[in-house]
Amino acid sequence: MTSAATPLGLGVLASGRGSNLQAILEACARPGFPARVVVVVSDRERAQALDRARAAGVEARFVNPKDFPDREAYDLALVRELEARRAGLVCLAGFMRILTAGFVRAYAGRILNVHPSLLPAFPGLAAQRQALEYGVKLAGATVHVVDEGVDTGPVVLQSSVPVHPDDTEESLSARILVEEHRLYPEAIRLFAEGRLTISGRKVVVRAAGRPGAGAPASEASL
Ligand code: GAR
Repeated sequence: MTSAATPLGLGVLASGRGSNLQAILEACARPGFPARVVVVVSDRERAQALDRARAAGVEARFVNPKDFPDREAYDLALVRELEARRAGLVCLAGFMRILTAGFVRAYAGRILNVHPSLLPAFPGLAAQRQALEYGVKLAGATVHVVDEGVDTGPVVLQSSVPVHPDDTEESLSARILVEEHRLYPEAIRLFAEGRLTISGRKVVVRAAGRPGAGAPASEASL
């Protein structure tokens, strides 16, 4: 649990546009928000996310995958960047790399991701296109804890949106993105306030103001 005096340090990993990063930055700027972004790291030099970080006065780091012999070495470098800035939570925000087991273990239970589908439906790339092609009537956004699989970790928050008959990938993505921008800061707040407990593959969200119930040994506070 952190207090307003000692906000939780967030390390955000992003590869592109960075609209989720922007939502997180704006949430962190609100009075009383219990977290702040300590570093933004990208695997792409020209990622708009890095520009957004700089504009907000946040340290922006490009770590070039080509400088490392393999994924394990690259991810180790990312962990070093994050630990050096005391990031207590890692937020994947459109980070288009699959993390290695070494990274996930280093930050076990302390990595969140946002995904543009109602997981476990449509994991992986182009989730919105997958939803349209499948013909679902509801789509949505998920914030989940990252485990060693691809979009498989315990779900923290979800929100659904309708799929309209005339939707394009762009129109559906835009509708889902509104929910992503709402859910991600909320999930970060819950984590920072110590209100999330992981139990098997479920995340239990404790109501505000209620003391922890004393989690059984099989449960771990995130
Ligand atoms: C978001 O829609 C996010 O959910 C998705 O990439 C986009 C990044 O947008 N992530 C994934 O598909 C991960 N599997 P942003 O750079 O504007 O935040």
